[in-house]
Amino acid sequence: MKRTLGTCYYPEHWSTELWAEDAERMVEAGLTWVRIGEFAWSRLEPTPGDLRFEWLDQAIEVLGAAGLKVVLGTPTATPPRWMIDKYPDMVAVDVDGKPRKFGSRRHYCFSHQGYRAECARIVGLLAERYGKNRHVGAWQTDNEYGCHDTTISYSDAARDAFRVWCADRYKTIEALNEAWGNIFWSMEYNSFDQIDLPNLTVTEPNPAHSLAFRRFSSDQVVSFNRLQSDLIKAQSDAPTSHNYMGRITDFDHYKVGDDLDIATWDSYPMGFLEDRVGADAAHQKAYARQGDPDFQAFHHDLYRAVGKGRWWVMEQQPGPVNWAPYNPTPLPGMVRLWSWEAFAHGAEAVCYFRWRQAPMAQEQMHAGMLRPDSKDAQAMHECKQVRDELADAPDVQPAQARVAMIFDYDADAAWAVQPHGAGLSYFGLVFDTYKALRQMGLSVDILRPETRDFAGYDVVLAPGLMHMDAGLKQALNQAKSHIVLGPRSAARDGDMNIPVPLPPAIDGLDVTVDRVESLRPDSPVSLDNAGAFTGYRELLEGSAEVVLRSADGEAAVMSNVHVSYVAGWADVAGWRAILMPLLDKAGIKVMDLPDGLRVRDTAGERFWFNYSADPVSYDGRDFAAASVTRDAK
Ligand code: GAL
Repeated sequence: MKRTLGTCYYPEHWSTELWAEDAERMVEAGLTWVRIGEFAWSRLEPTPGDLRFEWLDQAIEVLGAAGLKVVLGTPTATPPRWMIDKYPDMVAVDVDGKPRKFGSRRHYCFSHQGYRAECARIVGLLAERYGKNRHVGAWQTDNEYGCHDTTISYSDAARDAFRVWCADRYKTIEALNEAWGNIFWSMEYNSFDQIDLPNLTVTEPNPAHSLAFRRFSSDQVVSFNRLQSDLIKAQSDAPTSHNYMGRITDFDHYKVGDDLDIATWDSYPMGFLEDRVGADAAHQKAYARQGDPDFQAFHHDLYRAVGKGRWWVMEQQPGPVNWAPYNPTPLPGMVRLWSWEAFAHGAEAVCYFRWRQAPMAQEQMHAGMLRPDSKDAQAMHECKQVRDELADAPDVQPAQARVAMIFDYDADAAWAVQPHGAGLSYFGLVFDTYKALRQMGLSVDILRPETRDFAGYDVVLAPGLMHMDAGLKQALNQAKSHIVLGPRSAARDGDMNIPVPLPPAIDGLDVTVDRVESLRPDSPVSLDNAGAFTGYRELLEGSAEVVLRSADGEAAVMSNVHVSYVAGWADVAGWRAILMPLLDKAGIKVMDLPDGLRVRDTAGERFWFNYSADPVSYDGRDFAAASVTRDAK
């Protein structure tokens, strides 16, 4: 497959005279794709029912005639002002009960039926008009579901829909009371109509209630998206997609992805560094102009799973963004590195956000491929370099990794409801595990929790899966791979109660979690060989073999022949100590990569990415700062 490049363009921001020249320059830059339309509702329908599609017809024609393929976005992330007059209660309501206002974007509640009907109307019209348009090569639904903390809404519309969701799920109010344990503190309901949303309670709401509400909120995103994708698919054969955002985990991306053909995500490596990576100040300083060396790769691997193999980067950071706490320019070479890293992980396309820097409104300080005066900006040079390299280089041939890790959005919700210690999150646990694997030079496949076939994987890790249904437990137990569980595996049943027999209750592995503790950041528990448990650990009992102890003599890892249970949140050195014997046994060669240097294996090549601001040496070789090296295997 030919890997391609693209950009995000807003024809409605520029005079029509510029369009043809822009299109020509895009083609010249080696771009195949141009995404348009996703925020243009106020120009498509300036007042209710006054539809103005002619400018969009023209924009698609100009771009298409130049040889570009259009990704057409539905404009539902930006309902126009008149919509709020029509439905004043359509906005999302925050946890403090305050409605969110018009004046930016994503100001809607997924549960509002009136707004859903408006979305169906505009999407239906777009699908009808452009469904067979030869220049429309793909579709995008909405823009970044969940971004700006917009998945969860405490509106009346959400409350009403949540009651219906609860009734569907539990059938009788007695069953719900029983499942949630509502006898505790006399929280029992007499009918579904009495159920409110879990905000503004005097102290913590019932975790079962909170988890149910998060699951409901996730389902609302799925059905909102399905409404759009069904309408598009009824009119068009072009693939559908949605652009997810880094570390937004409060809805189930796999389930949204089940209704789409391609998963895309928006990669802002430097934008993410301070707020989303969770690293200390020294790390942030060292990678200020490059981004964290593992954060992008993790999402690439995740979206490969969400897209069932078909995935893109829809928005690639091209220079400084406007929205992080600090916004330096990337080191020369990083735009190229980020692009190649995506391709090495299997991206079909990488699109730069955005074509021309906007001189107006919220993103004036966000770089584009062009400056506001239309001269080339920094990213353009590196984009052209990637264009030339793509023309010459062999195609990337994806290969199944030998190590896999399960990522479960529902577990993320359970940890969020009950972290048990400040700063603990499922994403953090999984990402620390992933970092350790990458430091060992391993390529990793991410799997969804519904996976039942683990063929081809030597080692499968499933840290922190708080709920494991019987089918998953059984499939893991029967897999030929070595399975690494813990901490908090199967720690709660489907309704957030502690199961008896106590966790993890894995057939054939005599391990029971006797008690658990969360740890202060300054008080990790050292492990015997190297590394430590940080943040969280469990004290285990049982007759399974203790293969690693912590310095205080407690069991850190207990195993049978093919399942290991890890009793805590290991740091990178800890994971190394835990996994080395298993990887060794599987015949997997492990590296000890210096900070910043990372590896990605495909069927035919080994890619090396040096995220460091300085050259690094490894195994007798030198790697330049911010560089990509390709070795044929
Ligand atoms: C993304 C968003 C774009 C733009 C960009 C700026 O999150 O999808 O529309 O706002 O950030 O970095």
